[in-house]
Amino acid sequence: MDLTDRPRRLRRDGIRPLVSETRLDARDLVAPIFVDATTDERLPIESMPNQERVPVDGAVDRVEEIRETGVEAVMVFGIPESKDERGTRAWAEDGVVQEAVRRITAETDAYVITDVCLCEFTSHGHCGVLEADAESDPTLTVRNDPTLDLLAKTAVSHAAAGADMVAPSSMTDGMVGAIREGLDEAGHASVPIMSYAAKYESAFYGPFRDAADGAPAFGDRRHYQMDPANGREALREVGLDVEQGADVLMVKPALAYLDVVRAIRDSFDHPVAAYNVSGEYAMVHAAAEKGWLDLEAAAYESLLAMKRAGADLIVTYFAETLADRV
Ligand code: PBG
Ligand code: ZN
Repeated sequence: MDLTDRPRRLRRDGIRPLVSETRLDARDLVAPIFVDATTDERLPIESMPNQERVPVDGAVDRVEEIRETGVEAVMVFGIPESKDERGTRAWAEDGVVQEAVRRITAETDAYVITDVCLCEFTSHGHCGVLEADAESDPTLTVRNDPTLDLLAKTAVSHAAAGADMVAPSSMTDGMVGAIREGLDEAGHASVPIMSYAAKYESAFYGPFRDAADGAPAFGDRRHYQMDPANGREALREVGLDVEQGADVLMVKPALAYLDVVRAIRDSFDHPVAAYNVSGEYAMVHAAAEKGWLDLEAAAYESLLAMKRAGADLIVTYFAETLADRV
């Protein structure tokens, strides 16, 4: 055969790594952790194998375990001791996230990112202040503007506890600007914001809502999280967050939204993050348990695809499992 182009030449061992376009690195990964103020022992999370809720006292050990694998960054989620209408424990100085962050930053060198949202702290489980008639009209539940101040207070309290970066996830219009202003006024101008800029109303958050006890008590999040049908709208959302001072732009979930990761990568210069969410984790585990998939190979390929699509960093429950493989 008279072929001039034989791409197979570059697929042999030896040359393969030299021409590889994408690499995963443990230093690109962020491991989520769940700190639970209602327990004094570690509790496995049933829908997320190998993930646990840890007591405040166990937060440092949990982070050390992660750092031993080579992963240096964690994202802290909190389950408070009590919940109320407005989610007041979200910005309490002695709240679960604040206490955990204080210990982690005092005792480890981890880079500590906090999720800034109210859904784990409100009795109704929505990501903000409720409309008066929310229960009778579940298509419109959260009031946008009155929520902004609460998010800013929450972010400031996280920074005061020592958080290195804050990550607002409520999809409240104007949240990045409100948080930036709050942080700057409180003397935290050097704390960056990683915005969950394009966060979709997704079926893939199911296991997380067990893990963090943050499922809405009624209705859904369709009027604040994005419609999975929309790609162009993500660029608009991201553009607004950039104008308001976002430092890192996140897409969530990751696997089903790699076109969005790519579009943002191509349109903005900011670092792009992908959140490989709980449902993406759970489905690989479930298939592997049945013997239908190789867990590590499927997880590795998924994360590699996120990087290939343009993600600089990846928030993933696979961080520890894959750290020594990457
Ligand atoms: C809080 C928040 C959620 C996730 C991250 N931050 C839940 C939600 O929006 O319902 C989901 C993470 C995951 O599924 O792994 N707003
Ligand atoms: Zn929320």
